[in-house]
Amino acid sequence: MHTLDHLRKSFNGATSRADRSEIGQFLTPVAIAQFMSSMFEGGPQEVRILDPGAGAGALFAACVETLISQKNRPLSINIVAYETDSAILPYLEGTLKRCQSLAISNGIEFHGVIKHEDFVSAAITETRETLFDAPGMRFTHVILNPPYKKINSQTAMSKMLYSSDIKVANLYAAFVWLSMLLLEPCGQMVAITPRSFCNGPYFRKFRAAFLRMMSLKQIHIFESRKKAFGDDNVLQENIIYHAVRGLQKAKSITISRSDGLDFDKAHTISVSYGRVVHPNDRDMFIHLCIDNTDDNLAERMKCFSSSLNKLGLSVSTGRVVDFRAREHLKQSPQQDTVPLIYPCHFANGFINWPVESGKKPNAIVLSADTSDLLVEARFYVLTKRFSSKEQQRRVMAAIYDPARINARLVGFENHLNYFHKQGKGIPADLAKGLALYLNSTVADQYFRLFSGHTQVNATDLRKMPYPTHEQLLHLGAYVEGTMPNQETIDAIIEKECLNCDQ
Ligand SMILES: C[S@@+](CC[C@H](N)C(=O)[O-])C[C@H]1O[C@@H](n2cnc3c(N)ncnc32)[C@H](O)[C@@H]1O
Repeated sequence: MHTLDHLRKSFNGATSRADRSEIGQFLTPVAIAQFMSSMFEGGPQEVRILDPGAGAGALFAACVETLISQKNRPLSINIVAYETDSAILPYLEGTLKRCQSLAISNGIEFHGVIKHEDFVSAAITETRETLFDAPGMRFTHVILNPPYKKINSQTAMSKMLYSSDIKVANLYAAFVWLSMLLLEPCGQMVAITPRSFCNGPYFRKFRAAFLRMMSLKQIHIFESRKKAFGDDNVLQENIIYHAVRGLQKAKSITISRSDGLDFDKAHTISVSYGRVVHPNDRDMFIHLCIDNTDDNLAERMKCFSSSLNKLGLSVSTGRVVDFRAREHLKQSPQQDTVPLIYPCHFANGFINWPVESGKKPNAIVLSADTSDLLVEARFYVLTKRFSSKEQQRRVMAAIYDPARINARLVGFENHLNYFHKQGKGIPADLAKGLALYLNSTVADQYFRLFSGHTQVNATDLRKMPYPTHEQLLHLGAYVEGTMPNQETIDAIIEKECLNCDQ
């Protein structure tokens, strides 16, 4: 057994669970501490580690071990550990001494201090900017398993936090909040805390501050709520997260899951940042329920191995920007006009034009000023560029069928994207197959995987995989006068995937 696990066992044996629970003291098993320290990315040569609520020092000790075992070791390590419980101080001092010997024997300069004081008031003083004090130390690394305890609103601590605009319901959130304020720019944090902050109104202010100042890089979820702290019987659902201080957000977040401490067998996926923190979500929920369906989806999509390029197709944004072309727009078609297509003309997978009752104009005057904005009236596939959060789908496609609308030219408004072949129409069967594919659930889910926002941009559509020419013709054969309903579309796609598995 690792020395620190021994310490943890003997400390837990010598103290009562009720007492530990009272001060939110659940010591981290070494396997978790090691996993947490492995999350840090290569850092600077002069490392400054903060461990607020350090207990017996398992977390900073794991960091020191990890840093020393790396190829690019730091030149110096500086540790600041806060701990209020006198009973655990001897253990903490022992751990700090062992870290010091380890660092020095490896030729690394070492400096460590234990601050036997309340981290909250110390950090508030440290982060309060005054004209007279020089700014205190800022850290390159923060690693923490903070105490979990409701904050009583009548206490001095609550009032102090409130006056610093740190509005939180639980002590752990105050620890994380203050820790991030003590990070230097690009400094990194790894924390293990309850997952309760990820949603709900009580932690909204905390989430807002955290997600503004930090960029999440990895989240580890324990499948079983009891297994993380095993013997300590912690009933909270805990997560571990790695985040970097800075306004720039990471492109993707790694989500890993393990049953207990078996981190080697953790299941890991990478998802776009926007899938975890939806960009337009005012509540700033952190979505953790991203599961293996993503893998199945990726597996399904493998059967669509073509691209728009290979198909000789392109997608562009509608050229008519209505507020710029206002003087040329007409509510109803007239002799000198051509159809102008908006999202309101989408009806069951086809373009239904004109829509007289709509708020949008149906036509655009054909003139020297507008001719560049128009295309030949042939088969095209159109998609809506904007969807709302409430809408079930992001990708919504409809076929422009020239046989249904009597016109030589047509204008596509800027709220639409249109698929074309070198600026001209697409063969009918191909267009039908493409629209069916875009309207499938797999295509929509795949689109959401890499696009966190509700807009469907042409750039994102270009990145999608597409069925081959042959597959599109095959799919197109299912579309006659109407687009099949969702269930049928998905069954058709499923069948196509089965064909390609064989
Ligand atoms: C959940 S335990 C974790 C201990 C250690 N970080 C670990 O991972 O093993 C939290 C620790 O914070 C300490 N603590 C509680 N309130 C504190 C405060 N206001 N300031 C500093 N330490 C505090 C507790 O005594 C306890 O040892």
